[in-house]
Amino acid sequence: MNQKLQSLLNGVEEDVTILSLSAAFLYHELLNVNWLGFYCMKKDYLTLGPFQGLPACIKIPLGKGACGRVAQSKAPLIIPDVRLEANYIACHTETQSELVLPILVKHELFAVLDIDSLSLNRFNEQDQMHLMACCHTIATALQKNQMKS
Ligand code: SME
Repeated sequence: MNQKLQSLLNGVEEDVTILSLSAAFLYHELLNVNWLGFYCMKKDYLTLGPFQGLPACIKIPLGKGACGRVAQSKAPLIIPDVRLEANYIACHTETQSELVLPILVKHELFAVLDIDSLSLNRFNEQDQMHLMACCHTIATALQKNQMKS
């Protein structure tokens, strides 16, 4: 999956295009995912970026919900059962489990990748590892653009 993503992003020169292609690709590659998208870092909150799935929350304060927590910690987070999480933002009531990963460009948080599923316990450490590799590919493509501008 990561190799295909690398080929897809090769030579892409706009950040929004990198994120849009990645969202479409990963959403269609992964099984049992009802929403997948990026929340991009602004000064002190996250804003909805390119995604696949139903319309979702547009603004998430740092520290709030799974995405806001990952934006602060810069560490991946697996939520096996969203109903057991006090600090969780339910954009879609049907979502049962979630994986959120940081996208770091030059050690700074650029965005988080949020992946939701209708199944409980959909994501494990192996998913996290494979998808972190994909996030690294996305970050590398974004960083190349920053170096050009
Ligand atoms: N559940 C996320 C919010 C984004 S939606 O799932 C698309 C959270 O708690 O941060």
